[in-house]
Amino acid sequence: GVDVSSLLKDTGDTTFDVGFANTAACRSAITYIDGDEGILRYRGYPIEQLAEKSTFLEVAYLVLYGELPTRDQADEFEDRIKRSSLLDERMRDLFRCFPRRSHPMPVLSAGIMALSTFNSDSTSVSDPDQIETATINLLGKAPTFAAYGYKNSMGQPMLYPKNDLSYIENFMRLSFGLPTEMYEPDPKVTRALDTLFILHADHEQNCSTSTVRLVGSSQADIYTSVASGVNALSGPRHGGANQQVLEMLQRIQADGGDADKFVERIKNREEGARLMGFGHRVYKNYDPRAAIVKQHADQILSESEHHDALLDIALRLEEIALSDDFFKERRLYPNVDFYTGLLYQAIGFPTNMFTVLFALGRLPGWIAHWREQNADPASKIGRPRQIYIGETERDFVDIDKR
Ligand code: ACO
Repeated sequence: GVDVSSLLKDTGDTTFDVGFANTAACRSAITYIDGDEGILRYRGYPIEQLAEKSTFLEVAYLVLYGELPTRDQADEFEDRIKRSSLLDERMRDLFRCFPRRSHPMPVLSAGIMALSTFNSDSTSVSDPDQIETATINLLGKAPTFAAYGYKNSMGQPMLYPKNDLSYIENFMRLSFGLPTEMYEPDPKVTRALDTLFILHADHEQNCSTSTVRLVGSSQADIYTSVASGVNALSGPRHGGANQQVLEMLQRIQADGGDADKFVERIKNREEGARLMGFGHRVYKNYDPRAAIVKQHADQILSESEHHDALLDIALRLEEIALSDDFFKERRLYPNVDFYTGLLYQAIGFPTNMFTVLFALGRLPGWIAHWREQNADPASKIGRPRQIYIGETERDFVDIDKR
């Protein structure tokens, strides 16, 4: 095990806190988490209630502005977002330039940076109108970027957004529709994706949100800071885990489907990897989001047309891990990513799109944190310290004498 005292030491003026496991770098009024009790609330509202009763755009409004919208506010917000979903034609062409095999996360990140070049009149960090324009631009256009990245990888034509569809339906049509066919999204699937986005909308100071704050602390604009968040999310220990979970389940299936054998290999560190979708820095009893995703996965995947043998493997993995001392001692439970991949796959997305879907859900959180920090007169540039462990002073040696 890790010697915690070696990770958290008071060394004079500087606290040595690897991975910021114990350091609060800001105050925030957006999201409350109690990791021991498995509580997650956005602006005071429990995640379970929001997942059941709300919609993603309503939750985005709540996370961004602090209150649930009235009907008029909700309609106006949705209208502004939909009207910004269309891209400048030259931006649209950009998505045709990426190689077909590109991973869609760097494509999304590149799209967001390109958006800042097309919107240099909304990159101010001090003009509230420009901050609002950038907020709406990002929420409106990010699903279009994600869908165009996907269409490019499929070699299919990119459709134009349709504003009579809901936010989620529009994204589904842009991803799966073809110009020659009517596209009718399945309401159950649309609702499942909407709920998944709600569950991802914010999660306080996770790696990507802290990245957005750190980049934003230099007074970089929202586009630049949010693109940095996308980049931070891409790693397998963070948002990249949802893709890794599905690939892990597929590997187990290809190897005969023996979940017990796989868990033994993880425990013996033979896989060289972790049980992807398990463990969380903050949740040490259970991740309340995982419980909600599991319900949806059970509902959608147990229906005959979607029935998925990978779900059986996942359920078995969870069962083994929850009763095994290795996982119990380390307090490792399924996190939100454990079941999301199965749902994304059932909806029809390829594995490399999973982390992009996480990013679309997390957008309101990233933007809200950037705005909260930017509006706080007490905020400072982020600048951690280090404990230097290199050579002490030594004299330069001429190249011929080394
Ligand atoms: N499988 C097996 N062992 C694990 C796992 C896992 N998934 N997670 C942690 N451990 C073990 C570690 O090896 C370590 O064991 P040791 O004490 O014997 O060395 C112990 O549990 C503590 O692990 P840390 O890495 O110190 O825990 P930390 O809080 O830093 O990491 C993290 C959290 C990154 C989520 C980790 O659990 C992990 O890598 N999980 C798999 C990836 C994953 O699912 N990420 C998604 C996170 S949720 C999200 O981003 C939405």
